[in-house]
Amino acid sequence: MPKAAKPGVRLDLPQRPRRLRRTAAIRALVRETSLSPAQLIQPVFVIEGGSGAAPEPVASLPGVSRVPVGRLGAHCRELAKLGLGGIALFPKVDPKRKDALGREALNANSLVLRAVREAKSAAPQLPIFADLALDPYTTHGHDGILTKRGDDVDNDRTVAILTEMAVLHARAGVDFVAPSDMMDGRVGAIRRALDTAGHETTGILAYTAKYASAYYGPFRDAVGSKRAAGQAPISKATYQMDPANRREALREALLDEAEGADILLVKPALLYLDIIADLRAHSPLPIAAYQVSGEYAQICAAAERGWLDLPAARDESLLAIRRAGADMILTYFASACARDGQ
Ligand code: PBG
Repeated sequence: MPKAAKPGVRLDLPQRPRRLRRTAAIRALVRETSLSPAQLIQPVFVIEGGSGAAPEPVASLPGVSRVPVGRLGAHCRELAKLGLGGIALFPKVDPKRKDALGREALNANSLVLRAVREAKSAAPQLPIFADLALDPYTTHGHDGILTKRGDDVDNDRTVAILTEMAVLHARAGVDFVAPSDMMDGRVGAIRRALDTAGHETTGILAYTAKYASAYYGPFRDAVGSKRAAGQAPISKATYQMDPANRREALREALLDEAEGADILLVKPALLYLDIIADLRAHSPLPIAAYQVSGEYAQICAAAERGWLDLPAARDESLLAIRRAGADMILTYFASACARDGQ
């Protein structure tokens, strides 16, 4: 028989936060943040190929494969069944179709536009987000076209191309265009172009605070926007934000709101939770966060070595992003997370 504690050992504590952690049911009652498939958007890489073509695994993104466009319909029906909040489409374009001006971006029958039509007809209720930027189409891998001197991305000429791209995507059936290029003034220009073309119901998810991050590496492998082996990776520092800056994200948010953005996005996510919380506090608009390829890859890599428990680390990372204030998350974990929750 254990002896009863001596009276003097009991603390005189009216406040005992542990009372609310005593059982699973009580913890569920007081949980402040939830995670559900409807809040998750799955990025999907598409390649050319019919329904018989094999998906191509991406080595630096374990569990992620590029999907042949002929298989995309079936793939989207699966994702819709999981109750996901949508897909974000990214094409891997044949290098032969790339040039310095990214002309393929304006081909009305380009891979991504065929993918949009395929996805929309197969799973009409699944929201489609389409990235707007020129990096899948340019030989140099930048998100826009270069200035005459070739030493920077030309803002206004790039915006002109993005507005045309936006209209093509809207016509193909996307629910949201997602400019990820970080050019100044592009949200307003895209809004006007969409409205003029009669696409006033197509939304804009603006990459509001997209940082010049080292964590996009595996994505650039997936879409082939990295420079050839041996060459230094390109720097996007003249358009993507400096990771040192916090207030500047608010400035970008104010501009995107004023220009007509429907959703504001922060990217990457886990290293930028302060930015997500800032935008949540300052904007009435829905906030999205992009858990990028490098964030995904580092969790997978540690789990492969047995150093982290994958589902637990994954769910904790997504919950943290939601807790910081994101309404929705673009994440390569989306479908696995939804499947595990079933
Ligand atoms: C390109 C784009 C990038 C990502 C999404 N859109 C890469 C880049 O800016 O170089 C990165 C996504 C990821 O790393 O998962 N406009």
